[in-house]
This record gives sequence, structure tokens and C-alpha cells, in this order.
Amino acid sequence: MGATVIVGLQFGDEGKGKITDFFAEKADLVARFNGGNNAGHTVVVGEKKFKFFLLPSGAAHKKKCCIGAGVALDPKTMLKEITGLGEKIDLVIDARAQIVMPWHNLLDLAIEQKKDSQKIGTTGRGIGPCYADRASRSGIRFLELVDEKRLQKKISENFGPNRLLLELVFGFSPGSDFSEKKIFEEYSELGKKLKSYCGDVSLETSNAINSGKKVLLEAAQGTFLDNDFGTYPFVTSSHPIAGAALTGIGLPAKAIEKIIGVAKAYTTRVGSGPFATELNNEIGSRIREKGMEFGTTTGRPRRVGWLDLVLLRTANRLNGTGEIVMTKIDVLSGIEELNICTEYLLEGKTIREVPADTEKISKCIPVYKKFPGFEISGKEKSFAELGKNARAYVEFVEKELKTRISVVSIGAERNQTILR
Ligand code: GDP
Ligand code: IMO
Ligand code: MG
Repeated sequence: MGATVIVGLQFGDEGKGKITDFFAEKADLVARFNGGNNAGHTVVVGEKKFKFFLLPSGAAHKKKCCIGAGVALDPKTMLKEITGLGEKIDLVIDARAQIVMPWHNLLDLAIEQKKDSQKIGTTGRGIGPCYADRASRSGIRFLELVDEKRLQKKISENFGPNRLLLELVFGFSPGSDFSEKKIFEEYSELGKKLKSYCGDVSLETSNAINSGKKVLLEAAQGTFLDNDFGTYPFVTSSHPIAGAALTGIGLPAKAIEKIIGVAKAYTTRVGSGPFATELNNEIGSRIREKGMEFGTTTGRPRRVGWLDLVLLRTANRLNGTGEIVMTKIDVLSGIEELNICTEYLLEGKTIREVPADTEKISKCIPVYKKFPGFEISGKEKSFAELGKNARAYVEFVEKELKTRISVVSIGAERNQTILR
């Protein structure tokens, strides 16, 4: 038996947290493999609302949790999240994970501020600069954070060049807290507090799979925020697609048995970038309000649009999605007529897969198929109870994508989940 990977098929915020929690009930180990605290995953259990930024969403079920080498780890957020749980957590953080340092946060802001146009609209969590340092081999790893001597050396190597970059290149004044001494004091303390979680997630996860345990690998972000295959440059700096679960944890391809893609019944996006089916009208506002489409991490209003099968077709191919979970269909309840985009038109030609060139994506015109609306209260217990029109909506998507929609989510609560 191999691991199951859970990925987002759109631009993030598809409900991966809720769905990972749903599948975590029967899992033994849940691991995050990419991104950092740019992610925000909400899990609702009765009166309790968990907001996970770095912890895998298996934490709500108190399962063994792992954070892979592919994660950009902000130790301040990590400690806050662990403490916030209020109870002991069985957590292993890979020694190789890259640490988000204060200069990464400041550079993230400075780079965005400097741009006249084409701002990405990042979360400001230092993710881009942190992964850039990993690629250029100057990054600080978790194993160095927890070793005072090595941390001091790494901070002294990185501090000077980053201060110059901030001040001289970006004209950014980092403030009086930005001192090598203060950063070392704060981060060595964080290292001490987090040291007991340092381990080898690649080995832990391999061993768990080989001994027949159920392993879930949870992505952050969504397919079209992928650093290569997303709408570059309006993307994040890691890889949220299923293939990255292998490199983000340290597993061979044969370790993956199943890939579950999570897609909202409509589309949302936070930050800049092309969005063919975007609704800048009253229906869009209505979906935003009803779906509470405001970022978990930054509180920004999410852009909203119709469901886009061009995106999902490409996402299925890139991820090798075995089954789809459709979330938030309840949010569409009460809208008289719904649209699903089946393909795009570009200069008179039909486009069925997302083009590589982001400029071209911006010029694509969506082609819609209309569907009659439906009412969903969130209390339904079976697919049949959703009614004819809602079933037709789901079945059309399934047929077009040639992929089974195995679960339909009709509310934020753990139990508002219909298995088909
Ligand atoms: P993630 O980043 O993919 O984990 O998604 P987020 O947690 O950022 O955003 C999804 C939001 O929708 C959260 O507030 C969830 O509690 C909520 N949610 C998830 N599934 C459903 C659903 O089926 N219906 C409704 N109404 N809300 C949902
Ligand atoms: P979850 O895991 C939605 C977006 C940002 C911005 C772009 C780059 O909750 O689905 P970054 O800070 O990563 O450099 O920003 O990516 N973004 C997300 N959008 N959900 C997320 O995570 C996101 N993480 C990053 O809004 O457009
Ligand atoms: Mg989110």
C-alpha cells in the first residue's frame, strides 16, 4: 500500500484542509510537502475552528504529523501553532526544511513595493526569497536553526548581504529590530524550543509506508500557483502538484498509490494573474459573501468566478488525479442560472488546455454551458438528496473530465461531507 496525495486543482483555497482532515480520520501519518505559512487551511469540527498554516491538517485528528524538507518553515509561526494547539503533538519536522528568516519577509515586501506594475500580490510571508536562497544554496536549514554554533555562522554569512540588498537595491529601511545580534538571540531561542521536533521525514514516511501504515501527503496552494506549471509569474515559489510530494518529502515515485484532487464548485483566486471566468458583478459578490471568500492567511477578499474545466482538465493531467472531491457546492445554492466554462476561445481557435504562455491565457475568452440552479441546505446526507439539478452539475463535470467525483462537500463542517 502506498501513500495518498491530496492536491488543489485550482488557485488554492479549494478546501484541502477540510478534505485532508476528512481522510485523516483513517490515516496514521499526515505530512505537508510544500509551501510555508503562505498557506491557510481551515478545519471546522463542531464549535472548534482550526486554522493551520504549517501544520498538516491531520493535526485536528491528533494524528502523527510531519513537515517535509520541501516546506519553507517560519519558526515563529511554527512555535505559535504548536503552542496554540494546547496539547502535545506527535510532530516531526525534517532537518532539511528551509528556514524563513526576517530578511526573507522584508525582501518579499520590498520586492513587491518596488514593482510599478505586475505586482504578484504575495502573502508577504517571505516565501519567494526563502526558496530563492535554497536554490542559490545560501539558505538556512532546520538542522542549523537548532544548532546554536552553526546558526550563528549562517546568520553572520547571510545578514550583511541581505541588509545591503534591502537598503541599497530596494531603498528599504528595515528598522532597528533588524540587527544581527537580535536576530541571533531570537532565532537561537526558537531553535532551542523546536529542537525536539527535528528528524528525518523522508525516513519516517518511508518506514510508515513500508510497514503498511496509511500515509496522507497534503499540498499547500493549488496547481495553477505552481512555480513551473502555474500562471507564471503570478505563482508561488514551490510546487503544489502531486509530483512534488515525492521531492518535498523524499520518496520514490512508486510510494504514491492514489492522488485526490480538490476542486471548488466554482473558482477563486487571491492575488494577481489571469482569471478567465472571473465575475466582477453582483453574482461574484454574492458567492464571495456566501462562501466567505476572504483569505485565511491575509484576510484579503478572494476573486471569484465560474467553474473552469480548462483549468481542471490541465490540473488532472498534471497531477494524475485519480478522483476529485468537489467542495462548496452549497455556496452556489439559490443562484438561478449557473455557468461552467468548458473551453476557451483564443483568436478564433478552441483551447481545451491551459496554454504555457500567461499572456495568452489573459486573452482567452471562456465558452460557457448553462445549468439550472439548485438549493442545498447543508443538511443533506446523500448524493440523491442534493436533487436533480445539483446532481446534473456534478455529473457533467465528472463526464467532461473523465474522472470520478467521489466526495461532494456541502459545508465547512467535518460531517457535511457526502461520500458517493
Ligand atoms: P485550503 O487552503 O484549500 O485548505 O482552503 P481554505 O481553508 O483556505 O478555504 C476554504 C474555506 O471554505 C474554509 O473556510 C473552509 O472552512 C470552507 N469550506 C470547505 N469546504 C466547504 C464546503 O463544502 N462548503 C462551505 N460552505 N465551506 C467550505
Ligand atoms: P492555500 O494552501 C491561495 C498566492 C498569493 C499570491 C501568490 C504568491 O491556503 O491554498 P506567495 O506568498 O506564495 O509568494 O504568493 O500565491 N497564494 C495563495 N493563494 N491559497 C494559498 O494557499 C496561497 N498561497 C499563496 O495570494 O497570489
Ligand atoms: Mg487556504
